[in-house]
Amino acid sequence: MAIKRVGVVGFGLMGSGIAQVCAQAGYETVIREVAEALLDKGFGRVDSSLARIVKSGKMTEDDAKGARGRMRGTTDLADLNDCDLVIEAVIEEMSAKKEVFGTLDALCPQTTIFASNTSSLTIVEMAATTKRPDRFAGLHFFNPAPVMPLVEIVQALTTSEETIATLRQFVTSLGKTGVVCKDSPGFIVNRLMVPYLLGAIRALEQGVATVEEIDTAVKLGLRHPMGPFELIDYTGLDINLHVANVFFDEFKDPSVAPPALLKRMVLAGRLGTKVGRGFYEYDEKGQKKPPSTPTK
Ligand code: 3HC
Repeated sequence: MAIKRVGVVGFGLMGSGIAQVCAQAGYETVIREVAEALLDKGFGRVDSSLARIVKSGKMTEDDAKGARGRMRGTTDLADLNDCDLVIEAVIEEMSAKKEVFGTLDALCPQTTIFASNTSSLTIVEMAATTKRPDRFAGLHFFNPAPVMPLVEIVQALTTSEETIATLRQFVTSLGKTGVVCKDSPGFIVNRLMVPYLLGAIRALEQGVATVEEIDTAVKLGLRHPMGPFELIDYTGLDINLHVANVFFDEFKDPSVAPPALLKRMVLAGRLGTKVGRGFYEYDEKGQKKPPSTPTK
């Protein structure tokens, strides 16, 4: 099956990156948010990302305009009824995701493929609530989606081989590399990354070194582009706490239990770059300020 028109539900950090990538690849892309103000915010993010790519010489001004012209915002899910593929990128709450897919299931033709960008929730639980569990999969993008070359294609127990083949082609057409994996907690990347990030928080809790020293050690000793605390801030402390809770629930392994400091920082609203405060503090442009981190 060929995909021509893509729907994206949720225009936050991930949804805006995903929608932009689809439009850049030539797909007509319809994006649904719950309010006009959130659509405006998402388009603001897309505009600055496209401007960045043009500035770096990787895209012409005309191509950026073309991509932007293929994107259309709406507050009505019914406007996604003629999409061949719908990618959901709303908050990491199963009830919210089920509600979106339940509504879409009644609106879209049986041929439409549904995909969730969840980073930790179970795909089959969403798929089973629809009448198309065979045309339901995970498509997990990485932040920043316009830059990161990987997409995990998650095959649930119910996902057909035909759906996986279509999604493989689709991911390739976006200029990304797709890897197929099972519907297991954290898929591949988060399964490996989250215990590492939680380990960094535990090292901080135990006074091994400061936030900056741990980040410097990992960047220079492992050549990672970001240290663990920069990465936790970048992906969101709330997201990391959520994934840790999902892992602990599934594996009952103490190494993935959320550290007390992470819980406390989320309770304090220090969610990371998106709110200007996490392990580091950030200015309005998202630039890191000198740290003021609680280490106890
Ligand atoms: N849109 C478009 N281009 C962007 C961009 C964006 N949002 N963000 C960065 N770029 C481009 C820059 O323009 C620059 O392009 P150029 O090389 O052509 O000039 C290039 O990316 C590098 O950016 P910068 O020079 O500004 O900064 P860095 O070299 O520090 O790179 C980074 C920034 C790409 C974010 C890099 O630090 C990085 O790769 N970090 C790791 C990110 C990562 O691990 N993401 C995965 C998180 S896990 C996840 O998302 C899963 C979820 O489930 C939790």
